[in-house]
Amino acid sequence: MQQWDAVWLNVNIATMVANTQCAYGTIENAAIAIKEGAIAWLGSKDALPEFDALSTPIYDGKGNWITPGLIDCHTHLIFGGNRANEFEMRLSGASYEDIAKQGGGILSTVKATREASAEALFVAANKHVNALMAEGVTTVEVKSGYGLDTANEIKMLEVAQLLNQHHVVDVQSTFLGAHALPAEYKDDADGYIDVVCNEMLPQVAERGLAVAVDVFCEGIGFSYQQTERVLTKAKELGLKVKLHAEQLSDLGGAGLVADLNGLSADHIEYISEASIEKMAKSGTVAVVLPGAFYTLRETKLPPFDLFRKHQLDIAVASDFNPGSSPICSLQLMMNMACTLFRLTPSEALAGVTRNAAKALGLDDRGTLEVGKRADFALWDIAQPAQLAYQFGCNPLQQLVIAGNVVKQ
Ligand code: NIG
Ligand code: FE
Repeated sequence: MQQWDAVWLNVNIATMVANTQCAYGTIENAAIAIKEGAIAWLGSKDALPEFDALSTPIYDGKGNWITPGLIDCHTHLIFGGNRANEFEMRLSGASYEDIAKQGGGILSTVKATREASAEALFVAANKHVNALMAEGVTTVEVKSGYGLDTANEIKMLEVAQLLNQHHVVDVQSTFLGAHALPAEYKDDADGYIDVVCNEMLPQVAERGLAVAVDVFCEGIGFSYQQTERVLTKAKELGLKVKLHAEQLSDLGGAGLVADLNGLSADHIEYISEASIEKMAKSGTVAVVLPGAFYTLRETKLPPFDLFRKHQLDIAVASDFNPGSSPICSLQLMMNMACTLFRLTPSEALAGVTRNAAKALGLDDRGTLEVGKRADFALWDIAQPAQLAYQFGCNPLQQLVIAGNVVKQ
């Protein structure tokens, strides 16, 4: 007789295991059992093995749907202040790039983040993680990049570490020291990159403060050569690499991160087919960020036909940040991925589960299979496409993270 920690009966399961027959990897009239934080059994209810029903908590799913816990693989959710004033400026005609060139944009959040204590940043960021979790998120990536000096970059990563320790949601940290050029290094971008490579990165690696390293490779960010220096150094130190690439122009960054076997290239509205071919070869995930596309009222869509032609794995993330995507909702991103980017609802769901896990280099989650982490959500829906189709009537019923029922 099986000894399990909990069992869910009377559920339909979208396993999201890649499957050519059914995009959701559906098992209807199913059951799922967990033990020690992992999935111990799942399958058709008819095949359920005998288990110790007297001492096992049993949940009745009432015919609703279970999906993997959602994974937001690209956020900047630790920051001071807000940029509502720039929202107003953009509405009166200024562009995101104009504002950045005038010393606003990312640099205004840098000022507020430097001024904020670690405690204040933690309190604000904790609310953001709560909001994501309320919509079914079980893993979130968090980037630094609003400190832009060694002490403040480390401060941000320590806040991320604290969040990971204190929050039930799993927090994966990324070092983004090369996010913008701080005022102290105006006209000396290479000098700042020296500090990122020789001072910040070694400390981040030695203290285990980040899993991965990112750079904003863009006309208003850093050049291809500067990006290459940072990512190469990161790899030497044993860190994974990813990139903000081709958001506003094509600098070839996505090809670079693929050449370095990077996890993901993110944004990529302006990517070339040559870079897409490199990504296909290296298995680098295409992370698309409809919240930034929407907020900046971009018109150039990422080239999805080419992504599909070269069979890239596509992830969808919130890019939650105070400037280009002040939207702390992965459910809305799924909807926007369909409405603005024309992904199918199953592609959108794969984008926030299986492919988002791959974009973070995590092979223990993102699909529901025996042995994977017991991270899953029970939704009050009649079919999985509803998760992308509707917004504002959060259907989350129950959330399980590493086997713990965190929302009933
Ligand atoms: O992903 N593009 C660079 N970084 C962020 C924006 C951050 C900000 O505006 O504060 C992004 O869009
Ligand atoms: Fe971003």
